[in-house]
Amino acid sequence: MATTQEIAKVSPIGRDTRRVDGPLKVTGRAHYASDFHFPGLLYGVPVEATIANGQVMKLDIAAAEKMPGVRAIFHRDNIGKIFRSVQGVGFEGISDERRPPFEDDIIRYYGQFVALAVADTFEVAKAAADAVLVTYDKKKPNVDTELKADDEPDVVPTTIAPAQRQQSKRGDAEGAFDSAPVKLDQTYVTPTETHNPLELHATTAVWEDSKLTLYESTQSIFNTRSVLAQMFGLPQENVRVVTKFVGSGFGSKLWPWTHCPLAAAAARQLGKPVKIVVSRKMMFQTVGHRPRTQQRVRLGAAADGKLVSLQHDYVFHHAILDDYHEDCGETTAFLYSVPNLRVAFGRARRNVGSPTSMRGPGAVPGLYATESAMNELADQLQIDPVQLRVINEPKMDESLGIPFSSRHLLECLDLGKEKFGWSKRTREVGSMKRDGLTLGWGMAACTWFAARFPAEATVHLRDDGTVRVACGTQDIGTGTYTNLAQIAAEKAGVSLNQVEVELGDTVLPAGPISGGSMATSSVIPAVLSAADNAIGSLLNIATLTPGTPFQTRKREDLGFEGGKIFVKANGPENGVPFADVLRRANIRLASGNGKSATTFGNPKPKFSTHSFGCHFVEVTWHPEIARLRVSRVVSVIDAGRILNPLAGRSQVEGAVVMGLGMAMFEHTHYDHETGAPINSNLADYVVAVNADAPTIEVHFLDFPDKEINELGARGIGEVGLAGIAAAITAAVHHATGVRVRELPIKIEDLLT
Ligand code: MOS
Repeated sequence: MATTQEIAKVSPIGRDTRRVDGPLKVTGRAHYASDFHFPGLLYGVPVEATIANGQVMKLDIAAAEKMPGVRAIFHRDNIGKIFRSVQGVGFEGISDERRPPFEDDIIRYYGQFVALAVADTFEVAKAAADAVLVTYDKKKPNVDTELKADDEPDVVPTTIAPAQRQQSKRGDAEGAFDSAPVKLDQTYVTPTETHNPLELHATTAVWEDSKLTLYESTQSIFNTRSVLAQMFGLPQENVRVVTKFVGSGFGSKLWPWTHCPLAAAAARQLGKPVKIVVSRKMMFQTVGHRPRTQQRVRLGAAADGKLVSLQHDYVFHHAILDDYHEDCGETTAFLYSVPNLRVAFGRARRNVGSPTSMRGPGAVPGLYATESAMNELADQLQIDPVQLRVINEPKMDESLGIPFSSRHLLECLDLGKEKFGWSKRTREVGSMKRDGLTLGWGMAACTWFAARFPAEATVHLRDDGTVRVACGTQDIGTGTYTNLAQIAAEKAGVSLNQVEVELGDTVLPAGPISGGSMATSSVIPAVLSAADNAIGSLLNIATLTPGTPFQTRKREDLGFEGGKIFVKANGPENGVPFADVLRRANIRLASGNGKSATTFGNPKPKFSTHSFGCHFVEVTWHPEIARLRVSRVVSVIDAGRILNPLAGRSQVEGAVVMGLGMAMFEHTHYDHETGAPINSNLADYVVAVNADAPTIEVHFLDFPDKEINELGARGIGEVGLAGIAAAITAAVHHATGVRVRELPIKIEDLLT
């Protein structure tokens, strides 16, 4: 064992650190939502509507009810009261689908739940659900992929807050475009995409009198608590949400969906725990998706490449009842310097389940469009695409008129060029070859916002020399357990394996959502302050403890370093381990709470806070057999200080692979007759897999952003997915001469 002093010299912050929860996962001891079992547990399987527009006329449950092992078939008349929820203060009470399940007989999307079979086993419940006969009054659904904005007022409601359809405006974008020497006017389309985390959505609901506990696969236990408390008319303290491990969510698990209140309502009616695991098919129907977008980008530039006008008009589809906003314009107004700009959106209602946030919501499809436009403009101007970004680098956030807290896009571009070998690129289409293949090289920039959500945490320093850190956030597979262990180990001066991290339970101090790539940056100040307060309490204890060199000292005279308490005047080398002092005092633990405020949605920020980066991509093209491969990617990310580069690189590598899927494979197809997402399985909905993964090189710049938190760490989960599809389509153009402006790239696009 290393001594505490040796450990203190080797700070875990900024070091490659393996997952502290890794052994639990690889040995199968990590409990995911559907791994919780209780005596008398019953299984629920929802009945899915097989139309996308119309009304339920008759529900014949006679055969299903009679099946042995069936406990109940629930529907509108026997499920009991389920209330609507409404948004509270801040990130509370959020849901992208407000209608409680079974509220009326109207069907607005394919797969909408119309009944629920509950039985002793999953198999019986499934058979019973299949045996429910539903008669519909069927109308033709609208799942049209051509998106024309509905006629709507200038301000429209969205899930979070009302939004101006004209999101940003400066100068005279139309006039400047008309008189610009060089113009580009193109429309880019991104398809509906479906989140496919490994772990399916799942709820296990357990009632004890009027208290409800939910074992839920969610990215936000506290929001789930507030929504479900409202849906069952309960005080929040009567609802507990437990989420120990999540097999990822990609945004689909940010807010609760209808299976969750259904499990709770069925459990209430039957007086038994009920579990619902959403099937892979249902994952395409009732738990959100990234909506289809159609984005017109108009750029006006001077002959030297300086932008004079930028217009970004986008339309996306949304559900019949709800108002999820795919904010494709999120980055448009600040990424480049341009005096005349206008960003506006419209929406088109379709018979689809509500869309929701999917990794890098808004910015990812948005940057596909705007970065593609920049690449096309560069070719039009015969300017290197990297140089075009350099020419248009802003000095400040021109949309808000405030400085960036820390922006190092130019350094990203420099490093990316060097690591990729960009100087060897020859501009002409099809001019680069290797091993009989045509090479295409493309690039794009990326950005994602950075901020903090409110967070609270508790740190215990214990008499056996161990440390416990607790926070009601959750680890969605990204490494949050490890991050908290690192921070606590650093502050308490102990090794990582001396730290116990407790997450994923609403009995813990309120933690942030695991979303917006903000969990890490949000918990840092809370954990640091909790640790400081625990140390403060420890020093108090020391001044009261006989037999220590600290009794009768004033607290201010004492210091703490490397896990030891010392008299400042005598220096840290004469320190006493905190465990020794606690044992002598007969105190099990010194405790401290910490809290940090949100910076998200600040109406008057002093700084514009974002992560930045760029991707350089190589594709190989084999024209004789129309084979396109992404062969090499270099990504450079400026995300402030990186707490755990090992986990950080894996975040960006995963994002690059997902970006490859976005560019080349992912596409949810709705059948025009039935309105069903017809490729609702992992065979027909193609995601990028290991065999598709190119050589990926990830580099982080290291510019701590002290506006975000003491450690200067911004988020890294989402920025890596932004821009990658535009870099790939640019590389495809460089290899083949074909501009793909509608994702995903299809073989037939390239057969010219
Ligand atoms: Mo992410 S789409 O904020 O989970």
